[in-house]
Amino acid sequence: MKRVFSGFQPTGELHIGNYLGAMVNYVALGEKLGRDAIYCIVDYHAPTNPAAYDKELLRQRTFEAGLVNIAAGLDPDKVILFVQSHVPEHTELAWVFTTQTPYGDLTRMTQFKDKAAKLESVPAGLLMYPVLMAADILIYKADTVPVGDDQTQHLELAREIARRWNLEYGETFPEPQIYLNPNAPRVPGIDGKAKMSKSVGNTIGILEDAESIWQKIRVMPDDPARIRLSDPGDPDRSVAFKFLQYFAPPELIQVLREEYARRGIGTLAVKQLLFQEMMKSLRPIRERAAELRANPERVMDALEDGARRARAIAQATMEEVREKFGL
Ligand code: ADP
Ligand code: NA
Repeated sequence: MKRVFSGFQPTGELHIGNYLGAMVNYVALGEKLGRDAIYCIVDYHAPTNPAAYDKELLRQRTFEAGLVNIAAGLDPDKVILFVQSHVPEHTELAWVFTTQTPYGDLTRMTQFKDKAAKLESVPAGLLMYPVLMAADILIYKADTVPVGDDQTQHLELAREIARRWNLEYGETFPEPQIYLNPNAPRVPGIDGKAKMSKSVGNTIGILEDAESIWQKIRVMPDDPARIRLSDPGDPDRSVAFKFLQYFAPPELIQVLREEYARRGIGTLAVKQLLFQEMMKSLRPIRERAAELRANPERVMDALEDGARRARAIAQATMEEVREKFGL
């Protein structure tokens, strides 16, 4: 692992699934790699999804994505954190790759097929999405890409693009590997479904209003067999217990599980404790976010500085690409 690249879309609020499943790892990789960890807010990808794209909101969401990532622990003085459209070489390389990528390789992508099936009019950008993604990664000659397993096929395509290029124009790009952290939890939804996800609407935002978080915890499904407080309950059928593992010390959870199972404790008490522990864990992030919100220029400056550093690498790669490509 020499250089890591990961991109995130500027869509909506970061939820605790994103945080525990992905952000925590980005922060850890950043600590380890410093400026060889490159994180990009991919605003040019956003308009490929007409349903989620809003020109009035895009810039605000891009800013929010920067703010929340810094608040969650990405240190912009260490890692490179920047906005895709601030480094125009991404789209330049994407065009070069577009001319070298068989159309059939793109129409085969399952994400394209799934997303296109839901649209009346399919933007060509949706088809090109994985080519732009390959350019995002390869322009930094990144070898490691920490993303979710839903990106496996896109990463295969990026490797294919790198391989084809290297054969035709000379060794230029490493073949980037997906990095799936085996220790990253898959956080369930507040409804108990297997995955918390924006598209399902079963999330808790890490910057969400405290009262709103409490209301969501309050109605989390409990063991349906437990009707009265005097009934024994199965903690594995209580959604609150699922969440407790991420926020409370294991000894405390063990005590609560036993009490719950032998009807010593009510669900409301478990939920109140979950709320307390969750807020305690999220507090440092929420405090940093509030500070940054009061000083937005800190976020802007960090992103600008990140773009400057990213661009120096991207320009060097583009020079090499133009030369080899005959431009
Ligand atoms: P969503 O599914 O809410 O749209 P994204 O697809 O934008 O979230 O995911 C952003 C990152 O967060 C990805 O790396 C993804 O693997 C991770 N992630 C999303 N939801 C969860 C979850 N419930 N548990 C663990 N990781 C998650
Ligand atoms: Na998703």
